[in-house]
Amino acid sequence: MARVLSLFTPSGRPTLGNLLGALRPSALRLTADAARTDHVYGISDLHALTSPHDPALLNERALELAGLAVAAGIDPERCVFFRQSAVPAHTELSYLLESTAHYGEMQRMIQFKEKSARHEVVRLSLLTYPALMAADILLYQATDVPVGADQSQHLELARDLAERFNRAYEPVFTPPRAVLPKAAARVMDLADPSRKMSKSMDSPGTIYLLDPVDVVRRKVMRAVTDSGSDVTYDPEGKPGVSNLLAILSACTDTPVESLSYSSYGELKRATADAVIALLQPLQERYAAIAADRSGLEKTLREGAEQARDLAAPTLAAARRAIGLTAA
Ligand code: TYM
Repeated sequence: MARVLSLFTPSGRPTLGNLLGALRPSALRLTADAARTDHVYGISDLHALTSPHDPALLNERALELAGLAVAAGIDPERCVFFRQSAVPAHTELSYLLESTAHYGEMQRMIQFKEKSARHEVVRLSLLTYPALMAADILLYQATDVPVGADQSQHLELARDLAERFNRAYEPVFTPPRAVLPKAAARVMDLADPSRKMSKSMDSPGTIYLLDPVDVVRRKVMRAVTDSGSDVTYDPEGKPGVSNLLAILSACTDTPVESLSYSSYGELKRATADAVIALLQPLQERYAAIAADRSGLEKTLREGAEQARDLAAPTLAAARRAIGLTAA
């Protein structure tokens, strides 16, 4: 049985990269014929504690991201949708997995190296983060995990930990696989296409999901392009143009090969139109969802109950297998 799972971290304002890399591909997996428990989506608020954060804002950010996820099509009627911190099994399994993982493999994670270099004081949870992420996935026996390319290494680690645990103790976990979107696995910063569009870096090249449409248009029209004038998809030689083509392709569900433009200006206008066509209705849906805050909180509470039920048998099996057999 396939089970699709993905979580989203409320560590900053969500971006177009989050939408095209993971939120939208996750939403598109929600077909009418699937059982609700075939899809598990959530807000990984515990992951937001790995870098300096404002406690007063944590809940607001989590609710904002949950509302945006629903607005992007993560329909809570069709999936289990919950907040990670409301399901204690995540932290409990994370500890069992930390006792399966090695210090060296955590240190080798690219995201750890990049993020730890940015902070003077590095929280220990930043190092152990991939064990919690593995717990998020393995608790639900997820098979498919739609994510952006920046999470591939964490997914490989989750797979390694599942296999190592199964070998060392008993076969408890399903090794998961990452599912990357075709076009927008790595949306780049519009002002500097050599780096990933990121919610943790304030850049004029980041499109936030709640940017007003005129701001979105301005950011796209000012995107850095490349020398020459041919509109061709060549991420090495033409990173700026290729990024715009990838964004346009993902927004319109059109293969990159089928896109043809005669000038950079024309490409930019088409990309701005396509991004706005996606964001405008999303923002309208979000406004309606945000206006009913208690409704959203109730949805998350109900989702957490379902998630707790789904997670319980796997946590119990993992405890038994590792030797925690006392009641
Ligand atoms: P997060 O919150 O940083 O990002 C959410 C999702 O968006 C993707 N993404 C991108 N995709 C394409 N281009 C970009 N520029 C871009 N930026 C972000 C991310 O790859 C991610 O899929 N650790 C995860 C959240 C998480 C998780 C999990 C994911 C926690 N537990 C279990 C899957 C399964 C994170 O911080 O993603």
